Amino acid sequence: MDEFTYRDGTLHAEQLPIAALAEAVGTPFYCYSAATLRRHYTVLDEALAEAGLSERLICYSVKANSNLAVIATLAQLGAGADIVSQGELRRALEAGVPAEKIVFSGVGKTAEEMRAALAVGILQFNVESLSEIDLLADTATAMGKTAHIALRVNPDIDAGTHEKISTGKAENKFGIAWEEARTAFAHAEALDGVTASGIDIHIGSQITELEPFGRAFEKIAGLLADLRADGHDIRRLDLGGGLGVPYGRDNDTPPDPSAYAQIIADTLSDSGCMIMLEPGRLIAANAGILVTSVIRTKQGQAKNFMIVDAAMTELMRPTLYGAHHHIAPIDEDTGAHDAAIKQWDVVGPVCETGDYLGLDRDLPVLESGALLAIFAAGAYGAVLGSAYNTRLPAPEVLVDGEKWAIVRARPDYQSLLAGEAIPDWL
Ligand code: LLP
Repeated sequence: MDEFTYRDGTLHAEQLPIAALAEAVGTPFYCYSAATLRRHYTVLDEALAEAGLSERLICYSVKANSNLAVIATLAQLGAGADIVSQGELRRALEAGVPAEKIVFSGVGKTAEEMRAALAVGILQFNVESLSEIDLLADTATAMGKTAHIALRVNPDIDAGTHEKISTGKAENKFGIAWEEARTAFAHAEALDGVTASGIDIHIGSQITELEPFGRAFEKIAGLLADLRADGHDIRRLDLGGGLGVPYGRDNDTPPDPSAYAQIIADTLSDSGCMIMLEPGRLIAANAGILVTSVIRTKQGQAKNFMIVDAAMTELMRPTLYGAHHHIAPIDEDTGAHDAAIKQWDVVGPVCETGDYLGLDRDLPVLESGALLAIFAAGAYGAVLGSAYNTRLPAPEVLVDGEKWAIVRARPDYQSLLAGEAIPDWL
């Protein structure tokens, strides 16, 4: 459920017509709905509560949409943050997430990043290798601190998702091999500067079946028993993110957060641990759309092309993962007559054949300047954007009821080129 609906024949974000926002900020732009962000967080939190999981922490996975206003919207509801870099740490803190609700994930943390996170006292480091544990132990000891760590284990489970966003298989770079988990905990236990107090997994993203989660959580329950038998004091289970969302408009049935929460409760409610989750897409994807306008249409030899002013630079997902995003005109009446509908490849102006937003889409014949919405662009949209072809990164707008604000402005060419220089010896 989101707050992008047609009223009086035109698409609105909450109370505001998209066309008015487009008039004010120009296209392309991302439009986020604060009410939808809040709803997605609350639905998950309430599902966990109803399943009896009272000790819990939802750490929003900042990588999905790291705009400060988006993080702040969630922080105000009590969300923590899952971060993967010093930059994301800075964003989370600036947006008002308390350090004691921040978990630091990722396979490649550097000593500098560890120091920054230790200095502010984050809740937990999710570590992924013995050498990372050693570096963290040394770094923390040198600062006179102790880092709470969760060991990310790789359960070797196929989450049934796209190969580029699957993380829990043995061949993926993530986590400590399942068979080495007990040794790794023993290794950590013997070191000063770290306390191994949690188990962490994340098996992939856009997972649309609940069954792989169930298998993974059962494995975690088994490992927890083994680790406790080994004498480890495990207090936290971080189950990662990954719950999939609908990308079509009407036909997809997403996994239900209540059923997901129930699986957690069934497998882990007697663990005595705090349950932590790291959802990104579930919260942000359908809380955002990308608004674009038609530049022109072109009849190719084999296809019709609708050339729009958004491109792979604003939404990489179609070309990177073959992802489907629903695309529709802002004006509901356009194409009300079936005769006007044609099949289009909706493409951007970037000089790459892979620069498309949707292939073979049934859409009306649109005039130049007509507005289109590309749905479910709130997660892994703006954050994966680039200035390729020296295009100006698209602005981001947050709507909240009748209020709206530009929460990231479109840069001008001067600021885009500001960091570059032609050496005087050239
Ligand atoms: N925790 C960890 C350790 C992760 O690596 C990720 C995502 C998440 C949580 C959040 O996962 P989510 O709940 O959003 O599925 N760019 C890709 C997705 C990459 C996901 C990377 N890791 C896409 O657009 O589909």
